[in-house]
Amino acid sequence: MAASGPPLAGKATDRRAIYCSTMLRYTDSAAGITPDQLAGFFDGWPNPPTPETHLRILTGSDAVILAIEDGRVVGFITAIADGALCASLPLLEVLPAHRGRGIGAELVRRMLARLSNYYAIDLACDPHLAPFYERLGFKPATAMLRRNFAAQNGRP
Ligand SMILES: CC(C)(COP(=O)(O)OP(=O)(O)OC[C@H]1O[C@@H](n2cnc3c(N)ncnc32)[C@H](O)[C@@H]1OP(=O)(O)O)[C@@H](O)C(=O)NCCC(=O)NCCS
Repeated sequence: MAASGPPLAGKATDRRAIYCSTMLRYTDSAAGITPDQLAGFFDGWPNPPTPETHLRILTGSDAVILAIEDGRVVGFITAIADGALCASLPLLEVLPAHRGRGIGAELVRRMLARLSNYYAIDLACDPHLAPFYERLGFKPATAMLRRNFAAQNGRP
């Protein structure tokens, strides 16, 4: 389902994995990731996707950035893009034990670079996260949402 055309700045096949330390690295591809590397996400969700479904989400998204440490995914962000004008960022999460290290902000920065050709990049967040996103260049707006909680686990 990856969008065709030029708007994504780079492809999953590019050699864009950048090593920030010997332990933590970032990559823009889920190729080679296995479900056992994805344990612990969707913290607090009552009906969370399984790691297998999480992998489907990563491979089905138009763009993804992963933070990987010691062979384990410790953070991820996904984007859905129309190939021309608009992109949205539906999911961003850092494993609880790894929060506060700058990983979340770095995932957003790298995704914004990947989507730099897009006119609109939208997301919805809880009010307490507004300062986090404002520091990354986002502006407050009103969002309207619908949720089907029976499908929260992604229907594995
Ligand atoms: C939001 C989230 C991805 C941030 O990841 P992180 O790696 O901890 O973020 P960073 O370390 O890059 O933090 C950057 C800044 O935002 C602040 N911040 C991060 N999470 C915050 C939160 N939940 N509430 C308020 N401030 C927060 C940090 O204090 C930090 O500020 P500082 O640079 O002045 O110290 C992470 O808390 C998370 O996974 N939360 C659960 C899922 C979620 O809410 N996702 C966002 C959906 S819109």
